[in-house]
This record gives sequence, structure tokens and C-alpha cells, in this order.
Amino acid sequence: MPEPILQTVGLTRRYRVGRDNVTALDGVDLTLQRGEFVAIMGPSGCGKSTLLNLMGGLDQPTAGQVMLDGHNLADYGEEQLAALRRSKMGFVFQRHDLFPVLTVRENVEFPLLLGDTAPQERRARAESLLQTVGLADKADFLPEELSGGQQQRVGIARALANAPEILLADEPTGNLDSATADEILAVLTELAHQRGLTLVMVTHDAESAARADRVVRLKDGHLVDGKGRDS
Ligand SMILES: Nc1ncnc2c1ncn2[C@@H]1O[C@H](COP(=O)(O)OP(=O)(O)OP(=O)(O)O)[C@@H](O)[C@H]1O
Ligand SMILES: [Mg+2]
Repeated sequence: MPEPILQTVGLTRRYRVGRDNVTALDGVDLTLQRGEFVAIMGPSGCGKSTLLNLMGGLDQPTAGQVMLDGHNLADYGEEQLAALRRSKMGFVFQRHDLFPVLTVRENVEFPLLLGDTAPQERRARAESLLQTVGLADKADFLPEELSGGQQQRVGIARALANAPEILLADEPTGNLDSATADEILAVLTELAHQRGLTLVMVTHDAESAARADRVVRLKDGHLVDGKGRDS
């Protein structure tokens, strides 16, 4: 019997813009099973990034809940939430956000600096991750010395440094040509499979979405398709 790792219940996010209220997300009920690969699709502005940020505890809902392993994220304090994010979640964004002055290896090691991993262990883990994404020979390069696809792979390695259970990726291949996008996607899906990761990926690309176990569609902040296997 599959067990849900993350569940959203009536998830709603409104933004106040001047005098208006914009409803970015409106009562979304979504269940993610552990180890599942879910693609989120929908037109620009439909609430995909909003949903991903809420699921990752990077933003707080106006109404509704995000349940992680059965616990409401709203019940955690800021520090607890940060610790939870560090230990359970990884994030990959459309535009890589690597630190320009740190080498590739240092970028991947960075999330581990906040924990209590010994330096040799940090280095070993970063190198093993760089090998996994095919960049072992670029460890001492700076991000700007890499191609866009290579930078995105460093971002993936960094997101995995803490051995997260859930990887939230917002258009991780959005800025790349289709061959490179395919390559990144192959790395992501392979890693997710190997590690039993739950992978949530926002994408505009139907071909990329076709690799997922399930495609969830959003429109105007509503879920229009693909709620969850058992809901
Ligand atoms: N910080 C904000 N303040 C006000 N409105 C916002 C804010 N962030 C998002 N919105 C609005 O919420 C809605 C959903 O935005 P969101 O970024 O989630 O869309 P998206 O589906 O990720 O779009 P895209 O495919 O273009 O990335 C949009 O109407 C957007 O204008
Ligand atoms: Mg977005």
C-alpha cells in the first residue's frame, strides 16, 4: 500500500496587489505518494510556482494546509521549518542560483555547512554527487565557466547534498535547449528512481511531463486533473 509523503488540503494562496486580491491558488487538494514522480503543468500564471513554494514551506498559505508525513507545516516554527526543509527537501529552480564566487564543489558542499557533516565527508559527498551528474572533472571550476546545462546539473547535485526525500523542481529545464533538457531530465529521473525520491517537477513541456508517473494540471489556481491516485 503506497503511503502519502505530502498532502495539500484546500490549499489557497491570495496575494494583495494594491487594492485587489489575486487568488494564485484556490483550494488545491493534492496527494503525493512516496517515491512518486509528479509533473505539474498549466498555463503561465496558473499557480504552479505558488503551489511548489507552498509545498516546500517557502511560502505560507492563506488557507488550507500542507501535510508532510502527516504533520501540518503551519505547526512548525520558523527554525523547525528551516531544519525540516534542510533535512527532507531539495529545490531546483529554473534559473540556477549557484554562488558565483564558489567553485562547483563548494556550491554542492554548501548545504552541508549548515549541518554537522565533517569536512572530509562533505567533500566526499560533493564529489560523489558531481560524479553522479557527470561533472566530476569540473569540481574546481566556477559556475560561470560552465554551460547552462552543466550549471543546472550542479544545481541538482546541490539539491541532493542533504539526501532529501522530496525534490521540488520548478522548470529545471526551462532555459535549456531540448537536447540538454533531455539530458537533465534523464539525470533527474534516474536519480529519483535510484534514491526512491519523490519528485515534483513543474514543466511547460509535454514530452518532459510524459516521463512522470502522473501529470497534474492547474488552471486559474484550480486543479483540473490528476489529484492523486487514491483521492
Ligand atoms: N508575490 C506576488 N505578488 C502578487 N501576485 C503574485 C505574486 N506571485 C505570484 N503572483 C500571482 O499569482 C499567480 C500565480 O503565479 P505563479 O508564479 O504561481 O504562476 P506560474 O503558474 O508559476 O506561472 P509561470 O508558468 O509563468 O511561471 C499569477 O497571477 C501571479 O501574478
Ligand atoms: Mg512559475
